[in-house]
Amino acid sequence: MKKILMIAAAAAFMMTGVVATEAVAGGLTGKCKACHKVDKNATGPSFKNIQAAYGDAATLAKVWESGFAVADRHIAGNPCNANYKKYHKKAKMMSAQYKKLIHKRVEAGKFTYQALADEVFSK
Ligand code: HEC
Repeated sequence: MKKILMIAAAAAFMMTGVVATEAVAGGLTGKCKACHKVDKNATGPSFKNIQAAYGDAATLAKVWESGFAVADRHIAGNPCNANYKKYHKKAKMMSAQYKKLIHKRVEAGKFTYQALADEVFSK
């Protein structure tokens, strides 16, 4: 009986280990993937196009930190950007995501704007 309990405990431990690893692999951008792909534009612009528009993670972090106004966005707020036309009209959709998935969580101390921007640039 004791042995069975120990095996069950070991199995439970291994299973939580797997779940934890998946959570880490999903990372800070896990929820962003519903709309963003790395190489291809989808509901939102690709991470590669975001990287090209902002140049570096610190610039993106700064725009987030200053409130992410549409006019400050390097894609939806910049008529010179190749993806402006496609995404300018969708700016409201990202504003809602910014509030919920980014701003609120940074305020709660879950991560920093810089850490999230670094992850977007690591893709
Ligand atoms: C429900 C869909 C959706 C989700 C989820 C989402 N986005 Fe977006 N995102 C969009 C859309 C649509 C745009 C284009 C409009 C815009 O650029 O403002 C966009 C644009 C962006 C831009 C470019 C802004 C610009 O115009 O310069 C960045 C950066 C960005 N998203 C980051 C993220 C990150 C990081 C996450 C996850 C924390 C995320 N998004 C989650 C839909 C989404």
